[in-house]
Amino acid sequence: MRTHYLTTIASLATLGAVSALSEQRPLTDSSPSQLPIGGDSSRRKPLVNSEDLQASISIDALLARAKNLFKIAHLSEEEYNHPTRVIGSKGHQGTLDYILDTLSVLNDYYTLSTQPFPAVAGAVFESRLLIELALIESASPMSLTPPTKNKQPVDGKLVLVNNEGCDATDYPSDIKGNIAFIKRGTCPFGTKSAHAGKAGAVAAVVFNSEKGPLAGTLGTPSDNHVATFGLPGSVAAPFVAKLKAGDTLDASAYIDAEVKTIRTTNIIAQTRDGDPDNCVMLGGHSDSVSEGPGINDDGSGSLALLEVATQLTNFSVNNCVRFAWWSGEEEGLLGSDYYVNVLPAEENKKIRLFMDYDMLASPNFAYQVYDARNDVNPVGSQELRDLYVNWYVQHNLNYTFIPFDGRSDYDGFIRHGIPGGGIATGAEGIKTEHEAALFGGEAGVPYDICYHAICDTISNLNLTAWELNTKLVAHSVATYARSFKGFPERTLDTVSIKALDTYSENARYHGSKLFI
Ligand SMILES: *[C@@H]1O[C@H](CO)[C@@H](O)[C@H](O)[C@H]1NC(C)=O
Ligand SMILES: *[C@@H]1O[C@H](CO)[C@@H](O)[C@H](O)[C@H]1NC(C)=O
Ligand SMILES: *[C@@H]1O[C@H](CO)[C@@H](O)[C@H](O)[C@H]1NC(C)=O
Ligand SMILES: [Zn+2]
Repeated sequence: MRTHYLTTIASLATLGAVSALSEQRPLTDSSPSQLPIGGDSSRRKPLVNSEDLQASISIDALLARAKNLFKIAHLSEEEYNHPTRVIGSKGHQGTLDYILDTLSVLNDYYTLSTQPFPAVAGAVFESRLLIELALIESASPMSLTPPTKNKQPVDGKLVLVNNEGCDATDYPSDIKGNIAFIKRGTCPFGTKSAHAGKAGAVAAVVFNSEKGPLAGTLGTPSDNHVATFGLPGSVAAPFVAKLKAGDTLDASAYIDAEVKTIRTTNIIAQTRDGDPDNCVMLGGHSDSVSEGPGINDDGSGSLALLEVATQLTNFSVNNCVRFAWWSGEEEGLLGSDYYVNVLPAEENKKIRLFMDYDMLASPNFAYQVYDARNDVNPVGSQELRDLYVNWYVQHNLNYTFIPFDGRSDYDGFIRHGIPGGGIATGAEGIKTEHEAALFGGEAGVPYDICYHAICDTISNLNLTAWELNTKLVAHSVATYARSFKGFPERTLDTVSIKALDTYSENARYHGSKLFI
């Protein structure tokens, strides 16, 4: 299953790429003669230090940026009837323009480039699953699902698939023209959907083998995919029992959806100053989901990067600093996957570590640190984790570790052997009593009640958390821009295949959606 998964990522990368170097488009001329007279004062600038860079971060500046971004999200209103910065929308294009405009007035401190890439974007307009004429409200269409035939309802018997449906032989012959009923587990949802499609099913339903609803993604589109729903295990259980007892269940499935490939772009800014063979890299994502404006997710992270990038220009650096604004994160980490997939090996080695900043200001926040460890992640990941921990401890703040399981743009870096980590403040998860004691806020309520929703606006930001975490972003940049002393070298033996296997086995998410 792991192998399958890795190939799907690779095939996505080759979808329209010529090569990284020919695709990446420099936006600024790197010749020294382009610098304004007296403008290259880097030699006279003080070497960056953490305290001063942190002190340059103000919530007023961040909030002004958030207000700009919210205005930009409204550019999509005509098409979407609400503000959004989803890829392909005017709100997203406006976001890209805003990032580039902000960086391009920084006196050539950075080399700017865009990296266009093909992105699959899916939309489900309407869906319905009936079993024995009863509407199954908890059925959730998978992301990137194709529509049912002719975007019309399809009827058939519900046919229970053997085992977990990871093998073509698990599909009985009477699946043809009927609806496959498949247990979750072992292989990605996309594999199950493709097997069902090849066996002639007109739709598929994957039911959960764990507690709770099943909101998943089919991943890279395939011609074999059929319209696919996820279903909670508790809802499926009585149907499974009846099918096993030999009963016949009639079902009707309907999905009106569209999957298309569009072009979007990453933005990369790298300091001209600093050792280009030893870069500290950090990223946030420029896009939002279609449901809302994404001011916390990931306005908070991407604007924190923009503000730190702006303030850094007052300093010189010893090591190169490379900022990235990824696109297509919400469709499944598309931009960051693309970036690492086309990165030549010798360029990969120059990235000493990657720091992910996705959602830094959740309204009911926790100070979360990705639990990246050297025994299961590229060596150096744990040193980065401890940099965050030490900072919170130093500031008398509490923190928690959260799983490092593929939910954000660090995933591709880890899979390509680059040490990584990051911080976050929480998404749809529910704050516990214990966490309310650690961080304040409300127990029993999601960290971000507006996660992936229309209300992810300026009022969805906790400004205390945002300012504080942006100072921590500044600390991380200043620390490594100054020195990698004590930070492990990038050598081949720092990434054991075994460790990466363990990571892959434990990674259940690819972006916000479960894929397996
Ligand atoms: C740089 O330093 C100057 C002088 O302290 C300050 O006025 C300015 O706001 C700082 N930031 C930038 C981005 O120039
Ligand atoms: C950290 O957590 C403890 C409870 O374990 C709490 O008493 C303390 O106030 C918390 N610190 C902060 C800064 O919230
Ligand atoms: C942010 O969170 C802190 C701690 O829970 C709280 O005191 C403050 O009122 C919150 N601020 C905003 C703007 O939500
Ligand atoms: Zn995000």
